[in-house]
Amino acid sequence: YSSEQQNIIQAYEWSTKLFHHVLRHTSDGKDGLNYLKNRGFELETIEHFQLGYSPQKDQFLSSFLKGKGFELDSLTEYGLLTKRDGNSYHDRFIGRIIFPIKNHQGKVVAFGGRSTQPEMEPKYLNSPESQLFQKGQILYNFHDARKHVQKNNREIVLFEGNLDVIKAYQAGVKNAVATLGTSFSEYQAAILNRYADHVIICFDGDKAGKNASYKTAKILKKAGLQVRIANIPNEMDPDDYIDAYGAEKFKKQIIQAAESFVSFYLNHLKKQYNLSLDHERVTYIEKALDIIAQVENSVERDFYLKELEDSFDLYRDTLEKEIEKRRRIKE
Ligand code: CTP
Ligand code: MN
Ligand code: MN
Ligand code: MN
Ligand code: MN
Repeated sequence: YSSEQQNIIQAYEWSTKLFHHVLRHTSDGKDGLNYLKNRGFELETIEHFQLGYSPQKDQFLSSFLKGKGFELDSLTEYGLLTKRDGNSYHDRFIGRIIFPIKNHQGKVVAFGGRSTQPEMEPKYLNSPESQLFQKGQILYNFHDARKHVQKNNREIVLFEGNLDVIKAYQAGVKNAVATLGTSFSEYQAAILNRYADHVIICFDGDKAGKNASYKTAKILKKAGLQVRIANIPNEMDPDDYIDAYGAEKFKKQIIQAAESFVSFYLNHLKKQYNLSLDHERVTYIEKALDIIAQVENSVERDFYLKELEDSFDLYRDTLEKEIEKRRRIKE
């Protein structure tokens, strides 16, 4: 780290402590603490993730950091403060829950800030990208999750949101990281690949989450990881699911029951065709055969073929011939 960067890291460290203290021990933090309690977060969890609250005061952090002797201009550049009228420094995250975002060495290099009121826009305000924080190169909670990968069969669970990771942790799923949105990069896949063999994608159950699951799975597969995809019903987020059904059900019905990439892919593909039309049905079946032919395990291939056979009332012989044809071409 450059000396400026070391300085910024120190400022983030102080700010994390200050905001955490406000949340835990002061009346200024009541709104924040109530918000988190209402959403089912326990004190122990709040401690573990060092969550904080930026109080409803315009120059709370800025005057604190000024008192510590920090140079406020560079703090502004790295997203801790904002500058108005060219000379006065103001807090950036006023009235928001603070999520410290650690880099992979465990240093806080950014904040996520969530509004506590529905009318407060945007819902999330994060530190801007900087030399220290590039969204495409960081996975939220990776530094801690890494310690739990080995004992979980070298498996890691990938979420969209930081609150999903935190709620999953509370439910006992500690090998959890988040992309902080729906975009996922090859760089992030390479990071996961260094520590894990299997990734379970556990994105939000809405349409955006499903589409992102597909794209993310492709990137992870390309990096050489084995991928399964969790299916959360009723467009719920993992966080909502855990609130509604509890930790045990989440682990059994969602994480352990995550489906194979091929099943997910076939379902995803199916939705793109109008299967009541003959020619679209044929196109779907041919594409499905292309995918199934690429599965190396013959028992697994058999399983998917059986599904095709039953769903479309086809002859098993025909399907097997088509698979052989495709596999020969591959060789
Ligand atoms: N995000 C962001 N900026 C936004 C929206 C989302 O940075 N305007 C990031 C946040 O890190 C968020 C993640 O994308 O955690 C997923 O977004 P979303 O599903 O909308 O948020 P949730 O994590 O579900 O948050 P909540 O449950 O509080 O709505
Ligand atoms: Mn504490
Ligand atoms: Mn979402
Ligand atoms: Mn959510
Ligand atoms: Mn979400």
